[in-house]
Amino acid sequence: RQNARESLYIILNFAKNFYLQQLHDTDEGQSIGLSYFRERGFTNDIQKKFELGYSPDTWDAFTKEALNKGYTADILEKAGLLIHKEGSRAAGRQTAGYDRFRGRVIFPIHNVAGKVIAFGARILKTDKSGKGASQPKYLNSPETEVYHKSDILYGIFQAKNAIRQLEACYLVEGYTDVVSLHQAGIENVVASSGTSLTIEQIRLIGRFTPNITILYDGDVAGIKAALRGLDLVLEEGLNVSIVLFPDGEDPDSYVRRVGAEAFKEYLKKASKDFITFKTETLLQDAGNDPFRLAAVIGDVVNSIIKIPDAIKRQVFFHRTSEMMKVDEQMLISEGNKLLRKLH
Ligand code: CTP
Ligand code: MN
Ligand code: MN
Ligand code: MN
Ligand code: MN
Repeated sequence: RQNARESLYIILNFAKNFYLQQLHDTDEGQSIGLSYFRERGFTNDIQKKFELGYSPDTWDAFTKEALNKGYTADILEKAGLLIHKEGSRAAGRQTAGYDRFRGRVIFPIHNVAGKVIAFGARILKTDKSGKGASQPKYLNSPETEVYHKSDILYGIFQAKNAIRQLEACYLVEGYTDVVSLHQAGIENVVASSGTSLTIEQIRLIGRFTPNITILYDGDVAGIKAALRGLDLVLEEGLNVSIVLFPDGEDPDSYVRRVGAEAFKEYLKKASKDFITFKTETLLQDAGNDPFRLAAVIGDVVNSIIKIPDAIKRQVFFHRTSEMMKVDEQMLISEGNKLLRKLH
């Protein structure tokens, strides 16, 4: 097991170096990959820090290179780098399959210790014409022996010291949000990579700080994603706040538009603790419908009782009773009822 994992780390590191070399030392990499990063405003330093790369637009340039260096098709497949072509191996042909990542810019995903465990690969154009139209914007490594998507956060290796020092962590959706914020001098940031948050990811942040601020893209899906599964965070005793961005913006586009200082100001101004945010959002949805308002009260109480700390619970009962215009004692006794049911 240990050896199997070790050999995956080795081939993944080899792949990372291949993509780096393709970006910097080939005409295709420079004219397509480097100019893409430059257009997005990523400096050379920030590209280096995240070991960004480029995968050439061929079927099997990487696979050939790796086989030449003595790596087996089997290990390439186990690392998620090679897509096996049915029958090709049985027929004993030299082509074992084709490269998973082709003609894309590459974001290596590192574990906490800094080892490359997977890749995210972005297509260059997302317009509706030509090649980009039928392909997903990002292709990611599949689950492998060393990569469990739901256990890892993009950027944790580059962020962990800053998270510890600042006793706070920003959680964003995308690879490019992490890279852009680092460039703006905000280094305590990790990405959930588009998935809804898991308990493992939350615990990973919890190893470094109890204070999490979620910065999600400003759209309805982003808001829903922010609400989903967040009671889990409360149960872990973490302090969660949420910042939403103007519609159509994400942290990357916003920080580039307004600059680092105004961005930090916005975070201060727009940040709301999770319970307040949830209560506000649910109240807006419910309007004046008394049945829906009753459901909101139940939902909010259900979140509050997940907080392990009794003093914090009390603060939120008080705060939300005012927001929902209901009696605080009633909320507390509802909470106690629910708690008794749970135990
Ligand atoms: N994502 C993914 N597969 C997709 C789309 C998104 O894995 N087809 C993940 C990526 O990790 C991506 C994140 O979800 O970074 C957020 O998605 P999105 O906001 O659409 O992308 P951005 O990171 O904003 O990328 P860009 O700015 O390049 O459009
Ligand atoms: Mn797992
Ligand atoms: Mn973006
Ligand atoms: Mn985005
Ligand atoms: Mn309990």
